[in-house]
Amino acid sequence: MSDSTEEPLFSVRDLVIDLYTEQVSVRAVDGVSLDVYPGEVLAVVGESGSGKTVMTLGPLGLLPEGVSVDIRGYAECSGQSLLARSGKELARLRGENFGIIFQDPISALNPMKKVGPQLASQAMRLRAVSKAQARVIALELLQRTGIPDPEGRYNCYPHEMSGGMLQRVMIALALAGNPKILIADEPTTALDATVQAQILELLQDIQRKENIAIVLITHDISVVAQMADRVAVLYAGRVAEYGTMEDVLTRPIHPYTKGLLSSVPDFRGQRTEPVTGIPGSPPDQSSLLPGCRFAERCPAAQHQCREKRPALVEMADVNKAHRVACPIAVSEGWGQSNDS
Ligand SMILES: Nc1ncnc2c1ncn2[C@@H]1O[C@H](COP(=O)(O)OP(=O)(O)OP(=O)(O)O)[C@@H](O)[C@H]1O
Ligand SMILES: [Mg+2]
Repeated sequence: MSDSTEEPLFSVRDLVIDLYTEQVSVRAVDGVSLDVYPGEVLAVVGESGSGKTVMTLGPLGLLPEGVSVDIRGYAECSGQSLLARSGKELARLRGENFGIIFQDPISALNPMKKVGPQLASQAMRLRAVSKAQARVIALELLQRTGIPDPEGRYNCYPHEMSGGMLQRVMIALALAGNPKILIADEPTTALDATVQAQILELLQDIQRKENIAIVLITHDISVVAQMADRVAVLYAGRVAEYGTMEDVLTRPIHPYTKGLLSSVPDFRGQRTEPVTGIPGSPPDQSSLLPGCRFAERCPAAQHQCREKRPALVEMADVNKAHRVACPIAVSEGWGQSNDS
């Protein structure tokens, strides 16, 4: 993990993203501030619809098709602001800084084209190299991502590859521009357990050897336990809890984090209690009430929770890097170990 004196590579401050379709308007991200430091793995976790993808890709100008977007706040990468840019400028900043492994891999690869040439044209686009150099880079990328017989696989079509191999190609594609930050949106969800482990190992290897920061978006707490340095827990577009992986997974404080962890059996081979889950479902983000978004499902909720948005506060006495948006849990000392 990086030390905190380093400058963050990627930061968002008070980020608000509203999405509008003909039918609804949705506050997908509601006042999020986060930093990603060089070489670290920041895991973003939360239930489906909590805003993980929109929060991460929105500032890069990559938003769902067919919706209009209002994005406010501040976002920067390597000291350069990302918001209020032209599409062309944003594409350049994206290419220079980010590699993205999309949640939906189909959208990233052309099924009608061989994988090697697709990698080569991405390298040409992002690195301004010749066609011959791009071919060499593409072969290196296949090698780096653990694809056996890169020369042979260069000429394969996507449908000729297994799910695991294809995910390696997706990672190669994300690395084609020499990014400083890799955004991996559910990189293993569609894969079976053995292949999942291999892909995680590959990502870990890349992060360690090449010191690339990773924003790892996942539902899977065991993936967080294996890979993350820090964790941001998102609930209904807001950060509920943020801290080191150890703090958040073994000493969770926010009732939502506790619920999320109790719904995951045995995430590090430590747990024996039954899976309880979190009763209820996330709020409708198109008609939100004031106060804490989790209040309706929260076992600790009090009257005040429904009135005022809880601030994300530092755990001052214990660990300032651990932040929690629940004054009740913080004041009542809910922070006891989750191992007990
Ligand atoms: N194309 C869209 N049209 C309308 N609303 C959308 C669209 N895409 C996302 N949203 C809304 O934005 C919010 C955040 O969605 P987002 O995709 O970021 O969630 P997520 O945490 O990535 O979920 P998942 O785990 O399912 O990928 C949700 O309330 C969702 O309903
Ligand atoms: Mg998503």
